Amino acid sequence: MDAAFLNKDGESGKKSMYIEEQSIKGDVISVMFSLKEDFGALVKALRLFEEKGVNLTHIESRPSRLKNGQYEFFIDLDCKSVSSLEEVLQSLRQEICGTVHELSRGKIKDTVPWFPRAIQDLDRFANQILSYGSELDADHPGFTDPMYRARRKEFADIAYNYRHGEDIPRVEYTEEEKKTWGIVFEELKTLYPTHACHEHNSVFPLLEQYCGYRRNNIPQLQDVSKFLQSCTGFRLRPVAGLLSSRDFLAGLAFRVFHSTQYIRHGSKPMYTPEPDVCHELLGHVPLFANPSFAQFSQEIGLASLGAPDEYIEKLATVYWFTVEFGLCKQNDEIKAYGAGLLSSFGELEYCLTDKPDIQPFNPEVTAIQKYPITSFQPVYYVAESFEDAKEKVRKYAANIPRPFSIHYNSYTQSVEVLDSIKQINNLVDNIHGEMGILCHALKKFE
Ligand SMILES: [Fe+2]
Repeated sequence: MDAAFLNKDGESGKKSMYIEEQSIKGDVISVMFSLKEDFGALVKALRLFEEKGVNLTHIESRPSRLKNGQYEFFIDLDCKSVSSLEEVLQSLRQEICGTVHELSRGKIKDTVPWFPRAIQDLDRFANQILSYGSELDADHPGFTDPMYRARRKEFADIAYNYRHGEDIPRVEYTEEEKKTWGIVFEELKTLYPTHACHEHNSVFPLLEQYCGYRRNNIPQLQDVSKFLQSCTGFRLRPVAGLLSSRDFLAGLAFRVFHSTQYIRHGSKPMYTPEPDVCHELLGHVPLFANPSFAQFSQEIGLASLGAPDEYIEKLATVYWFTVEFGLCKQNDEIKAYGAGLLSSFGELEYCLTDKPDIQPFNPEVTAIQKYPITSFQPVYYVAESFEDAKEKVRKYAANIPRPFSIHYNSYTQSVEVLDSIKQINNLVDNIHGEMGILCHALKKFE
């Protein structure tokens, strides 16, 4: 088995993918014990738990395999007080039971939705799309164009069959597709110097230099993904259709951005009713090359893992008003950093006029703001900086009701659920090591 396919518990990644509804709610300890042949021994044993206030959530019995006439008991305990439990188990061993085995510190079933624990778990989303990319609405510019629809299916198939770790297949774009790209590319480039944030403007020349951003060339996702990985660890992953908000946000937790690869219909180059490769490459990609923005985006993703449905909607709204339609302050001016703005000539111009309502970014407020999806936004939210926005999202995420904390391990590209003292201790050890490096570096300046 490939070592990269093992999660932290040594279980196969494949196995973790088949845990349908992972359930987490407080610590549970499972214990198995057998009773000596005393009359009323079970009652005595259970009374020990009662006296120490240890709650039994599950109990079953079976004839002992080791000794005829004895019974073994399997129980789940709700572990609110570890010290009380230790006392009970000790009393059990000494006074009543033949054997006591602490089997596991697992989790009891509840309603925490499944979420990916490792980057390869995102493969599961490839087959969980809400609509396949080739299915177009009746008002889509390409609806009556069979060639365009067939082309869209080609792109959808690439994404559907893509698996983590593979190179993103290169696409030979047609002359018509390149022409559409060229029109969008040229138009938007004229606005960037005055309307885009400086993070976007500083990365753009690098994309032209290293990733084939040119008027007559549609960059390949694989080249762009490699570039992003070298900048911030973000990577692109082709997507076959519409993902649920939960799945899409989960990708961000692993610094994975689900990207379309097809281009809008050539009949309306300045309009698309859905994300396309122009939107991804011109709007999203430059910002994902910025470390602060990358961290901000990942923070939204991490907050979404295992969050209740109503918070997914709120986080998706925060994402909408930041990553898609965000404005930010820069040197007493307001600039655009949202991809929905940076990929739309009309809205990029409009958003910096005095027509829309401009509000300070505050996740509590932003998360419940209603918005249209087919017209320019009436309200935009302005971030003081990406660092400030990240801290605000982090604080907001801390109030999301989840019975665990999450830590992203960048070495293994997996998330660690911090729900046991051992895991928290491991993290403390790691942070201690990092702090040592930091202190050592600071001393050099003394
Ligand atoms: Fe987008």
